[in-house]
Amino acid sequence: MRPPVGTGLRTAAWDTITLSDIQHTRKINEGAQGSIYEATIRGHGDTTFAIKYIKCSTAAEFDNQYRMAKKLQSLQHTHLIRYYAALQDRAKMVVLIVMEFYKEENLGFLIRHTGRMNEHTILSLGLQCATALTYLHTQSPPLAHCDVKPENMLMFDAQTRVVLTDLESIQEMPCAADSSKEGTFAWCAPEFLNKKDPITVQCDIWSLGVVLFVLARLPEYPALEVGGEQRLLNDSVWKSGQILAQALSQSLRPLGYSTAFITLVAAMLQHNPAKRPESTIKLQELITDIMTANLLGETI
Ligand SMILES: Nc1ncnc2c1ncn2[C@@H]1O[C@H](COP(=O)(O)OP(=O)(O)OP(=O)(O)O)[C@@H](O)[C@H]1O
Ligand SMILES: [Mg+2]
Repeated sequence: MRPPVGTGLRTAAWDTITLSDIQHTRKINEGAQGSIYEATIRGHGDTTFAIKYIKCSTAAEFDNQYRMAKKLQSLQHTHLIRYYAALQDRAKMVVLIVMEFYKEENLGFLIRHTGRMNEHTILSLGLQCATALTYLHTQSPPLAHCDVKPENMLMFDAQTRVVLTDLESIQEMPCAADSSKEGTFAWCAPEFLNKKDPITVQCDIWSLGVVLFVLARLPEYPALEVGGEQRLLNDSVWKSGQILAQALSQSLRPLGYSTAFITLVAAMLQHNPAKRPESTIKLQELITDIMTANLLGETI
């Protein structure tokens, strides 16, 4: 079940909350940019919320974060975190975001405590994320998440379902390579690093490909072996799709993953964005086809 929304659906009530209505109960996370707290809010009963505090260093950054947070409030999708409200503490240059609270941890935490996942579970999580990305990519202007990784996926429904979170990395497309913020290095699409190709929504397909690979290859990191050395998947050594496909196959086939699954991951991890599945809608189709074939005991 998704977390209870409580009075969250009464949008009007969100416009009137102030900083003094927030009562912290526990710090959940101390991040690079700020902290996340569990909290209750006066007027919203016992419902637990998560509040993200974003500390800004300039007035321009503060205005930009607040403007973006207000805009993100309108996004609503089953597999995307819901932002209920954005508040500002101008004196401290802090933007506060009131979100749904998820009590089942993030996928990054989960995979550090479990073994590899089976193909069905990986594809199911991939499909859920792909639907959230399709929702973002089909906004006008298109939005790219730009920081898809297990720590930004929160589990629910007894760890069978995910929501994509950390919407602060979202960027409106199109976006020039030199004006974009990068996500997290190891999960970052090659086009962020080579600073030549434009950044497009295809960057999210690449990062989701890394997630699928890591879930299949646990406990290893987003790296593969070439010539006796481990190289991150965005390393230029993997520019040749053929070398990548071979290494992926050697790494995943002995673990029992299907050819269709390995081919899909290889396609998502193409360094040339134009060679990846053409959209997340296409990606959803490809994942669904593999899941259907697996269910029917067929080979595709
Ligand atoms: N709504 C939420 N409910 C429960 N836990 C949350 C929620 N939002 C974030 N968290 C926890 O806090 C962590 C960091 O959140 P988030 O990614 O939004 O912040 P961040 O600024 O990117 O932090 P970091 O620098 O650590 O990545 C998540 O990985 C998750 O464990
Ligand atoms: Mg994060």
